[in-house]
Amino acid sequence: MTEVWILGGTGRSGRAIAGELRHRGIEPVLVGRDAERLRAAADGARTVVAGSVPATADAIRRERPAVVVNTIGPFIETAGPLLDACLPHTHYLDLANDLAAVAATLERGPAFASAGRTAVTGAGFGVTATESVVVKLCEGRPAPLRVRVDMVPSLAGEGGVVGDALAGTIVEGLPGLAGGGRFQGRRYRSGRLVPARLAAEPLHLVLPDGSSVTTAGMPLGELMAAQRASGAPDVVSASSEAPASPVARAVLPVATALLALGPVRSFARRRLAAVSTKPRPKPREHSWGHAVAHWADGSVREGWLRVGEAQLWTGTVPAEVVRLLLDGAGKPGAYTPAALFGPTLAEACGGEYQIVGE
Ligand SMILES: NC(=O)c1ccc[n+]([C@@H]2O[C@H](COP(=O)([O-])OP(=O)(O)OC[C@H]3O[C@@H](n4cnc5c(N)ncnc54)[C@H](OP(=O)(O)O)[C@@H]3O)[C@@H](O)[C@H]2O)c1
Repeated sequence: MTEVWILGGTGRSGRAIAGELRHRGIEPVLVGRDAERLRAAADGARTVVAGSVPATADAIRRERPAVVVNTIGPFIETAGPLLDACLPHTHYLDLANDLAAVAATLERGPAFASAGRTAVTGAGFGVTATESVVVKLCEGRPAPLRVRVDMVPSLAGEGGVVGDALAGTIVEGLPGLAGGGRFQGRRYRSGRLVPARLAAEPLHLVLPDGSSVTTAGMPLGELMAAQRASGAPDVVSASSEAPASPVARAVLPVATALLALGPVRSFARRRLAAVSTKPRPKPREHSWGHAVAHWADGSVREGWLRVGEAQLWTGTVPAEVVRLLLDGAGKPGAYTPAALFGPTLAEACGGEYQIVGE
């Protein structure tokens, strides 16, 4: 089979990825739970109806597509059974940017390597934009001592309900992740994951376009991607989406402690999934990935990657990764996108680097 299956084909990301695949001459197959919604989204593409993640896994085992693109969050719940179903015939790709899911998929590297298949996790804006800058800064250099990455998405809101996939990703925390509790932040110290306060180390950044933004610590997939790409023992990841005001930073530890209680968590997940959001224009012209690396000899390099609206870019990156995998440009194993395809992947997706310092 040479088919490319998009799981969650009716969703925002699934539809964006389908459009970008078509731009590359690749006709996707849309997979989803509801035949009618799928038909409406398919625009003539073949569709596969599978009522649940286990049913989707069965369909993958049966039909053996060449590549599966998983857009069904929370990835910590969906990636495991789908990764199992992909072996030994199918390449796997997902949009996870929660640290626990990225870590769990990267652990599948040896199984994918021995089957000669590739798993790519973190193929959305946050991981790809920040990791690409780190790879660019560190090209041809020894491992730096310290790295900080900041993701600054510009997201237009489509409006509608938040939905269970996103709500689950937000509320489920970091189950099973080494180095601290489920509802604690993380950073790397001496090469190991250790606990860190959520929204710690706020930083005021002036973007290359002259506008400014404050980022604060968020333990997302970019943390692990930046550590692996740089080899630095000391790594922090931050986001402009983290609540950086002093009041929010004071409330966060209490709110996250409450989420440790199972009933509170299910209540929060249901309530959050039902919240409706209004359409909103994107807050700035571009989205940015940013990284600063410090070396033992005192040298410092800072870099930016400029891309367009973050959700659109989250359609472009997976489509380009699929194209490269179908062309045989991947390597067996499990990777984040720029670790596999280098800094040119982001450029092929329309990104532009600006690097400062020697
Ligand atoms: N890394 C990044 O930068 C990035 C960017 C954007 C999104 N994401 C993540 O990607 C995921 C999808 O985002 P989105 O905005 O595309 O969400 P969305 O519009 O809500 O779409 C979710 C899709 O998943 C399907 N789905 C949900 N639960 C399912 C289940 N249990 N079984 C089968 N199908 C299921 C939905 O199908 P139905 O039509 O049947 O409901 C829908 O097609 C989220 O987890 C989000 O956090 C990551």
